[in-house]
Amino acid sequence: MKVIVFDTKPYDRKYLDKENERYGFEIKYIEGKLTPDTAKLAAGYDVVCAFVNDDIGAATIDVLVDVGVRAIAMRCAGYNNVDIRHAFGKIHVVRVPKYSPFAVAEHAIALLMTLNRRIHRAYLRTRDGNFNLNGLLGFDMHGKIVGVVGTGQIGRCFIDICRGFGMQVLAYDPYPNPNAGIEYVSIDELLSRSDVVSLHCPLTAETHHLIDAKRLSLMKPNAVIVNTSRGALIDSAALIEALKDGAIGGAALDVYEEEAQYFFEDHSNDVIKDDQLTRLLSFNNVLVTSHQAFFTHEALEKIAEVTFENIANLSAFRGNRETYLANEVCYQCEKFGGDCPKKNHKNCF
Ligand code: NAI
Repeated sequence: MKVIVFDTKPYDRKYLDKENERYGFEIKYIEGKLTPDTAKLAAGYDVVCAFVNDDIGAATIDVLVDVGVRAIAMRCAGYNNVDIRHAFGKIHVVRVPKYSPFAVAEHAIALLMTLNRRIHRAYLRTRDGNFNLNGLLGFDMHGKIVGVVGTGQIGRCFIDICRGFGMQVLAYDPYPNPNAGIEYVSIDELLSRSDVVSLHCPLTAETHHLIDAKRLSLMKPNAVIVNTSRGALIDSAALIEALKDGAIGGAALDVYEEEAQYFFEDHSNDVIKDDQLTRLLSFNNVLVTSHQAFFTHEALEKIAEVTFENIANLSAFRGNRETYLANEVCYQCEKFGGDCPKKNHKNCF
């Protein structure tokens, strides 16, 4: 198999090269992102390996199909940046559905605790010889209500940690897990009752701007919102207005709806032209990390492992139409929610 890997950073290469010792695929690494323009570089390759901010819309897919690429192997769980409806029947899309829910859930907690106890401000103050506590007041997690939107792998892991703090858990999920011992409520009730809201659902047409001005207005004035899922779950303009009005207590964001232009890269010598991003960074009750929730040793090892397993399955698939691509996704998976026909070991197409 010949694999071309887009949007590669040195850490990706390190983990992918190590895993490839077991497979010996021919790999080409590209630093740039996958776009309709760069897609032609994939000519002669069987598989394109891509990441969260690559542009895998219809135009890119058409070029990939034209140059003979058979599959897109996402080295991540989310695939909202892939036009899976357009890809259906033309090119297989596989992903890494589970690598370390702990990595993401623990980062959500790290963001939450940092924001609540103002560790980001305390760190800078003490380094400057300022040992004053004004402005650093937090609240106990114990006894507070946490509202979790999306109770999949990461959401449930986040819930487990919150229970350890002694928090009361509410959840919203259109596909509730009846055996998880979780109190499910409507999203509006969750927002109006919670002291902490954490988003753990995928970005889909249905969840785009799930948290808009109206929903933000339901939140308690001191409540904080944590987003480690996908930026466009929150309407950033509405969030900025809510923060300016003091309508919510703060926001901890690992993702941002226009992150593709800036995240994962060093722009410290540039002028940041995204006014919403700079406004968010200017609030002392907003914490932004650069889509790093997945970034642990264990997660990168697992991502490399599953990505290569997926590619190996594709290579078997070439000769045997019956091979089951367990990690394939298509628009029907979303349509059927938790009850996709793939459960019966059928490929998407
Ligand atoms: P999962 O598929 O196990 O769980 C997602 C849950 O969201 C499911 O229970 C599903 O029923 C629920 N859901 C679907 N539509 C919903 C809606 N409209 N409202 C509320 N819930 C809804 O996925 P997992 O592994 O827990 O990941 C969740 C998300 O985390 C991913 O979709 C991805 O966007 C994000 N993520 C972020 C990372 C980061 O580094 N910041 C790394 C990995 C994932």
